[in-house]
Amino acid sequence: MPEARVLFTRDDLADGVARVGREISDAYPDGVLLVAVLKGSVPFLADVVRAVDVPVEVDFLAISKYAADTGRARIVKDLDGDVLGRDVVLVEDIIDTGLTLTYLLGEIGRREPRSLETCALLDKSVRRIVPTPLRFRAFEIADEFVLGYGLDFAERYRNLDEVFAGDISVLRDDPDAYVHQLYRG
Ligand code: IMP
Repeated sequence: MPEARVLFTRDDLADGVARVGREISDAYPDGVLLVAVLKGSVPFLADVVRAVDVPVEVDFLAISKYAADTGRARIVKDLDGDVLGRDVVLVEDIIDTGLTLTYLLGEIGRREPRSLETCALLDKSVRRIVPTPLRFRAFEIADEFVLGYGLDFAERYRNLDEVFAGDISVLRDDPDAYVHQLYRG
């Protein structure tokens, strides 16, 4: 049976979240609007907002991608509020090629926030196709496929409370390949 391996434990994640929370608090003493990209960033966002000790507002958007690695995307759930004149931080689960973040920076930037920065749980910087400014980052990782703490494969594994590395070819053959290992029952 293939096994996924733990990459970041609960303690590791708590340390990374606390550090990012401090960095954001230091950068925005007057408060900040965190814009989270659904769905993968939700657990990270939920922890980061509670690690920030300045006033925070949150908003959400969701995108759909037309084709892998083209960077072509579309907003399928837009923000509820206006970002005009606001200090905005886009919160992502993972930056891989950088195409998604580049698209989102363009879309949000056009709405004229006062400032626009980026935050991610994980940074797979070796995979970058477009240079992407990443201001707040919890962890850098190697080129491997990761699961858990919001990150999915075919909508599975998001609710694991640690981050695991899995084999992408194993998952493509069987999206449930790690279910027996990682869940009870
Ligand atoms: P990018 O546009 O290539 O930077 O892709 C970013 C998006 O790809 C993330 O928001 C994730 O949805 C997805 N992604 C990239 N790498 C992984 C991974 O290792 N595990 C799960 N999702 C990933």
